[in-house]
Amino acid sequence: MAFPTERPRRLRDHPVLREMVAETRLSAMDLVMPLFVRDGVGPSRPIASMPGQCQQTLDTLIEAAAEVAEEGVPAVLLFGIPDAKDAVATSGTDPEGIIPRAVRALKESMPDLAVITDVCLCEYTDHGHCGVPVERGGRTVIDNDRTLDLLSRMAVAHVAAGADMVAPSDMMDGRVGAIRRALDGEAFQHVPIMSYAAKYASAFYGPFREAAESPPKFGDRRGYQMDVRNGDEALREVRLDLEEGADIVMVKPALPYLDIVRRVKSAFSVPVAAYQVSGEYAMIKLAAREGCIDEQAAIVESLTAIRRAGADLILTYYALEAARLVGR
Ligand code: PBG
Repeated sequence: MAFPTERPRRLRDHPVLREMVAETRLSAMDLVMPLFVRDGVGPSRPIASMPGQCQQTLDTLIEAAAEVAEEGVPAVLLFGIPDAKDAVATSGTDPEGIIPRAVRALKESMPDLAVITDVCLCEYTDHGHCGVPVERGGRTVIDNDRTLDLLSRMAVAHVAAGADMVAPSDMMDGRVGAIRRALDGEAFQHVPIMSYAAKYASAFYGPFREAAESPPKFGDRRGYQMDVRNGDEALREVRLDLEEGADIVMVKPALPYLDIVRRVKSAFSVPVAAYQVSGEYAMIKLAAREGCIDEQAAIVESLTAIRRAGADLILTYYALEAARLVGR
């Protein structure tokens, strides 16, 4: 053949045809907006490491959530910043804690907005770890099974306040099963769990730890979050979480782990979420501020790529801006 009969550009040149054959769609409905809520009243506080994001208070939360909901974003993910922290996350399991109060306020004023809560100890512990530390063999390690009970109580407190879904982000073994049993025991069988199933020990969480005031005071999280080098292990983590009753499985971070998103989506016929984390947000934000990249184009491209890799849902601090750009 003298010339190729197949010419992909035929469908690329014509703007309408190009639109019609696009394989991936991105809309506000795919997005979840993470929000930080701190104890106390008064104005929201800007987060320096995440320009454009704030720690909300119970006074400002409703307005922030309403703004997101008005653009068609169907859900928010809440992180609590309590006044008091201790070794066993007492403020996190309190039915009158910051998250239960925030959930009640949101559900009262916006019953149609889905409220998801992050279930993890690190925001509520004085040592900043996602579990209960113990001494073992001259090392301080995180006690898996003692942590499960605290996570379960936290999840029950959130759901009792009206949370539509809980999202455990601690990476303890067996926590999805423990939370499922605890919820079922309180007659919350109908409330789904979105597990942070393949959550990596990532440098890209740096800005979040300032936002949530939750950096570990000693050591790091590599004893419980996944090793960056592992891909097969992500499938194992996802399988275990599904066996324990997870309804949605999440891969986190998103952009550096698109291979994992794709592998999870191909291996399991379940809804997959991906979390475009604080460091991914900050990279785009700061590069755009310096005039290095076009922010709006980078938002849409990165989120579209995450969808193309196989994510059904995307958790992103850009949810509001993205919803404005791509519509419903
Ligand atoms: C809590 C939690 C973290 C994130 C979500 N839940 C921090 C961490 O594990 O250190 C990170 C989110 C982000 O970086 O945007 N365990």
